[in-house]
Amino acid sequence: MARIAFFSTQNYDRQFFESQNSKHRFEFFENRLKSKTVDLARDFDGVCVFVNDRLDEEVLKALAEVGVKLVALRCAGFNNVDLKAAENNGIRVMRVPAYSPQAIAEHALALIMTLSRRTHKAYNRVRDGNFSLERLMGFTIYGKTTGVIGTGQIGRAFCNIMLGLGTRVIAYDKYPSEEMIKKGVEYMELDQVLAQSDILSLHCPLTPETHHLINKDTLQKMKKGAMLVNTGRGKLVNTAAVINSLKEEHLGSLAIDVYEEEEKLFFRDLSDYVIRDDQIAQLMIFPNVLITAHQGFFTKESMEEITRITMKNFDDFEQGKDSENDVNCKLIKDCG
Ligand code: NAI
Repeated sequence: MARIAFFSTQNYDRQFFESQNSKHRFEFFENRLKSKTVDLARDFDGVCVFVNDRLDEEVLKALAEVGVKLVALRCAGFNNVDLKAAENNGIRVMRVPAYSPQAIAEHALALIMTLSRRTHKAYNRVRDGNFSLERLMGFTIYGKTTGVIGTGQIGRAFCNIMLGLGTRVIAYDKYPSEEMIKKGVEYMELDQVLAQSDILSLHCPLTPETHHLINKDTLQKMKKGAMLVNTGRGKLVNTAAVINSLKEEHLGSLAIDVYEEEEKLFFRDLSDYVIRDDQIAQLMIFPNVLITAHQGFFTKESMEEITRITMKNFDDFEQGKDSENDVNCKLIKDCG
């Protein structure tokens, strides 16, 4: 039996994990894991965390001191874990590398369709008895050029969707996919993708190299009026630069499922509070900006897979078995 402390949990996490558990001991905390909350993990073998828990050097050292030997991520991205510090403190890190890439790709499509046809505006308008079409004109996606940054599992699922819609799909990835090339995806340099895309969608991981990949310079290289879609990680985009570009009417529209400072906001109901983050407040009032709160992964099928694979990770940890879900310094170039 492994004793696991879950952080950043919602009711649905508890329901999915408890329904599949017969052998481990679980404790569910709503708190995010950070230096102030580490003590909750005292005497547990492992912690199970999500995208906005912070596992920096200080937290990992403190976790090791209270006896934790496993960090199990309920997600694919591991940008929030200092892998070198985990290694130095003898903590094993495991993740769920793929659960439903299609779920995130489909969410990117939902954002694009909503923004391009303004269905979020139309929905409210019609419910208010306003049947006018003024200011609802969209654009036809068929025939446009879609740019994809990162053609891993999610990027490839997204390419397939956009090819199916009849767009020309161009992509940037250091490791082009033969499968995608055969299907008609054209790989080119980043600057060319930026310059030619009507819709640009980010599907690369957050690394020191991709931090603020979209910034003042790269925004200027983008086609005037293009749509930027980010379902990757918030810090891929410099929010201040994006706001300026929207104000200058260079960037045509923006859809985000992730936000640079999301850890203070997302996954919580703040409807009765004053939002003190000026940048998201500003983004919320642009008519051509659509924001969702990191829900790309959130389908029933994804939750079932996340639970199943994480439970297997607990078993492998307990039995000391190697796993393809292990995350360590060998996986990335800049490991601290
Ligand atoms: P993956 O590891 O299968 O693919 C990532 C791809 O990005 C690889 O092909 C890699 O070569 C490429 N890449 C790496 N550095 C690059 C760079 N500098 N420029 C261009 N391409 C680069 O990962 P997967 O499963 O496709 O996930 C991608 C990202 O999506 C995750 O790292 C995570 O941040 C995000 N994600 C978001 C979710 C959401 O709910 N919104 C859910 C799951 C993942």
